[in-house]
Parts: sequence; C-alpha cells; structure tokens
Amino acid sequence: MFPLNTPIQLSHIKLKNPFIRSAVHSFLGTEDGFMTNEEYTMYDTLSRNHLALIISGHCCVLSGGLANKEQIRIDNDNYIAQFSKAADLIHKNNCLFIPQISHAGPRAVDTDDLYDVTECEIKKNRYAKRLSIEQIQIIKKAFIDAAYRLKQAKVDGIQLHAAHSYLLSRFIDESFNTRTDEYGGSIENRFRLCTEIIKGIKKTCGKDFAVAIKINNDTNADNQKYAADMQYVIKKCQQLDVEFIEWSGVDFINQPRTSSLYYFDRINSFAKLSHLPMSIVGGIKSMADIEKVLSSNIKLISLGRSLICEPDILTKFAQGKTTKSSCLACNRCFAIPHLHKNIRCILHWKKLRKQQ
Ligand SMILES: Cc1cc2nc3c(=O)[nH]c(=O)nc-3n(C[C@H](O)[C@H](O)[C@H](O)COP(=O)(O)O)c2cc1C
Ligand code: SF4
Repeated sequence: MFPLNTPIQLSHIKLKNPFIRSAVHSFLGTEDGFMTNEEYTMYDTLSRNHLALIISGHCCVLSGGLANKEQIRIDNDNYIAQFSKAADLIHKNNCLFIPQISHAGPRAVDTDDLYDVTECEIKKNRYAKRLSIEQIQIIKKAFIDAAYRLKQAKVDGIQLHAAHSYLLSRFIDESFNTRTDEYGGSIENRFRLCTEIIKGIKKTCGKDFAVAIKINNDTNADNQKYAADMQYVIKKCQQLDVEFIEWSGVDFINQPRTSSLYYFDRINSFAKLSHLPMSIVGGIKSMADIEKVLSSNIKLISLGRSLICEPDILTKFAQGKTTKSSCLACNRCFAIPHLHKNIRCILHWKKLRKQQ
C-alpha cells in the first residue's frame, strides 16, 4: 500500500508521511524578492497533493548573497508577511512548510564584489575574495535574523542550504575550504559556521524551533575522506537537535537521464550510522524507487523535478494512475522560465503549444 498515512515523528515536528518537496527555486518571484500569485498557487497545488512537508526554494538572507534575480528574500522584516500567507495556505491543506535559507557566496548575482570561503577564481578573470572573520560573523547573524523573521511568520522551521556549492557547503567541503583559521582545517572547523548558525537560531527562536539542513553526500575531490567528515557532521547534527539531514549531491544535474536513486548506497550507509532522521533527494522517479528507499534505513523521501513536472505525482501514484514520473531529467527547468514567463517545465510548454 502507498504510505500516505504513516506519520513520522521528528524531534519537534510530525510529518503525516515520509514525502517532502525538496527546495526548488520557482523562478516565480518578483525582482525585489516577493512571492507572486503564481508562487502561492504553486504552494496550494503542491500541498493539496499528499506532501507532508514543503521546503521553499532557497531564500536570500543577505544582500551580496542573492543566487537568482527573482529569488524570494527574507533579509528584512518587509518579507515576513509573504511567508505567513504561504504558511497559512499550506497549513490549511494539512501540510507543513519550512523555508530554505541560503547565501550564494561566489555565485551571487547582485554584486561584482564576490566573496568565498577562500579566495578563488570563479570563472576566467572573475575572482572571489576570502571572507574575513568579521564578514563571517555578519553572514552568521544574517542567517539567524532570517530564521527569527520566519519564526514570526509561523512557519514550521527552517532548512539551511549547505549543498550544491553555495556558501555553507563550501565551508564544509575541503576542496573549497583551505582556510587555516578556526573555520578551516579539521571538519570540526569546517562545520563551525553551520554549528554556530544552528546554535544561534535555537537560542533566538527557541529550542523547539525545527532546524533542518541540506548537505551534499559527496564531493568532487576525495569521497572516502568526505564520508569520514560526514560521520562527524551527523553526530554534530544529532547533538544540535537538528530535525533531519536531507542528503543531496554535487552533481545531480550531470547524472544520466535514465538513472535513478544515484546517491542511494552512500546515503543508506550514512543512515545506518545514526537515529537522526535522514532524507534522500536525487533521481527518485518511480514507485519502485520509493519502495526501495522505504525498505532501507532512510526514513524520508524528497522529490524535486518530478514535482515540477507533475505536482500531483503522489496522488497519481496513490490512485494507481501511473508508476513512474513523466519527468525527462532534461534539466530544462533551469532555462525554460527565462524564455517563457511562469512556465517551469518543458513538458508544460509543449502541452501549451499543442493546445494553441
Ligand atoms: C529548477 C530547480 C531549482 C532548484 N532549486 C533549488 C533550491 O532552491 N535549493 C536547493 O537546495 N535545491 C534546489 N534544487 C535541487 C533540488 O532540490 C534537488 O536536490 C535536485 O533537483 C535533485 O532531485 P530530483 O532528482 O528529485 O530533481 C533545484 C532543482 C531544480 C531542477
Ligand atoms: S524541464 Fe525536464 S527535468 Fe525539468 S521538470 Fe520538466 S521534464 Fe523534468
């Protein structure tokens, strides 16, 4: 039976089933960081279709860290009300809502004055400078302030974006972080910024405020060493009362289109190490993929592209209408919104063209 009614108690929140919408930047925001009616409609549709938890697309915590020009922002109090509105409509549909907060680091689009964990050449002739300790403290405070604003909006918690080569992931991964101060070197030091942010959020928002984190399960460098680092990260997250770790990977975009569950073995081995709930995201496309995860040590299942393509995919699975997502894993969802306003998937565009 499809597990739509199998509640999972996390540390402070209870999910009605294991299904999570992973953070997906919607391309539906305004250029000054606000949600549009299309964004609210997207949340309404998703939350009516059996998801236990929706994680928002990454939200910007500080100027100089904006990842996309139409990214939703939470770097000042004017942005609180829109999260209240989204939380209300998602809650009405019996679903939880956790915004993801992020700093783009050297991938920022709102500045030419780029910063990274260590100075580096981003692209030919485009450099990022090394963050000073004072700048790190400003970024830390920005994450904590963003979480406090979101608490006021009555969301169910926050997720730190520490994956996909955005700033926090670059601190964690030795292939980016070659600092020699207290934020570099050992994994304890490389995870220090995340640790301090989580502690700061718990102090400011209360111990019961749910904090989740998304982390890469792998690196472009030494995967064995990285896996050893992750043992520390898992223990630390447990100590810090993190709600769950959502494991992604550095290269989901480059996986073969036909492959699925490409991170499963590594993430399942992490899940065996701890009782801390973990979720897997990346290439979950079918009932068979879901069954494989559910019979493993991984408690939670996160979906990205399948839900862009078919926001009602869980309903279709539950009703036996299909056993596989239609998503082509073509990644054109990164390009199509720039070409056609409010169109987020190539299949939606093709359907519209056919109808015209
Ligand atoms: C258009 C698009 C936008 C995304 N935006 C985010 C984001 O804001 N934050 C994030 O952590 N991951 C983001 N991702 C990655 C997804 O959350 C997910 O990790 C990835 O798509 C792999 O899962 P999937 O195979 O189920 O799509 C995005 C992916 C896509 C395709
Ligand atoms: S654009 Fe391609 S990868 Fe993206 S959701 Fe649609 S079919 Fe899937």
